[in-house]
Amino acid sequence: MARRKKIYEGKAKILYEGPEPGTIVQYFKDDATAFNAEKKDVIEGKGVLNNRLSEFFMTGLNTVGVPTHFLKRLNMREQLVRACEIVPLEVIVRNFAAGSLAKRLGLEEGTPLPRPIVEYCYKDDKLGDPLVTEEHIAAFGWASQQDMDDILSLSLRVNDYLSGLMYGVGIRLVDFKIEVGRVYDGDYQRLIVADEISPDSMRLWDIETGQKLDKDVFRRDLGSLTDAYTEVARRLGVMPKQATHVAKPKLIN
Ligand SMILES: Nc1ncnc2c1ncn2[C@@H]1O[C@H](COP(=O)(O)OP(=O)(O)OP(=O)(O)O)[C@@H](O)[C@H]1O
Ligand SMILES: [Mg+2]
Repeated sequence: MARRKKIYEGKAKILYEGPEPGTIVQYFKDDATAFNAEKKDVIEGKGVLNNRLSEFFMTGLNTVGVPTHFLKRLNMREQLVRACEIVPLEVIVRNFAAGSLAKRLGLEEGTPLPRPIVEYCYKDDKLGDPLVTEEHIAAFGWASQQDMDDILSLSLRVNDYLSGLMYGVGIRLVDFKIEVGRVYDGDYQRLIVADEISPDSMRLWDIETGQKLDKDVFRRDLGSLTDAYTEVARRLGVMPKQATHVAKPKLIN
């Protein structure tokens, strides 16, 4: 059997050439990194959970008319996605102050924001993904004005969808990050949600207790990351109800 071609290996995922032109296989690794990869570990089962959770969020978004790259899950760790030209920005949407925003503006973590705030970081690991303004994005041609309008509306729709979904299972969506990519349909280009949507790229707090259920558990050494992600999956109905404290995630189809 021919070996498939590896396109890219990042910190959390490996990309392989897909079976059809214009498709990619995304393999979710168990590696966890934080603080621009200064902190690293292997968290057994994380890749399986993120593959399944990203499938769940992206399928939901596709269903409500927010276009994403997701095509289908292939197995426990892999999903087939539409290949796109990634816009070199991390798009961050914040509903409550946390992380770098709390630090930058001297706000207490958890302070509700007057409205969702959308921030852009330039995707460059060597520079530590610096915060940039639309002025930089336009001047350096990373995205056009039309792209920026589309990115803003996409990211706010993702925010509304995910906030509502999480609220329904007693979780506060504090903030999240997405990546968007360009795809071409004939002469037209459009933007779709790409990469992954998982507790690696969101802040999720239990509404009642404030317990963190996202990658901050790893960043701040707050306990078992797989327990936290399993709890999110369980509440969303992605995992069986009794699976709260299983060592290894057990998936249902
Ligand atoms: N549909 C897609 N088409 C093409 N590239 C994609 C698609 N979805 C995600 N990617 C890219 O695949 C890579 C996923 O790997 P991973 O998340 O491990 O990268 P990373 O270590 O975070 O690095 P970086 O995002 O800085 O490249 C990212 O570079 C992401 O931008
Ligand atoms: Mg990444």
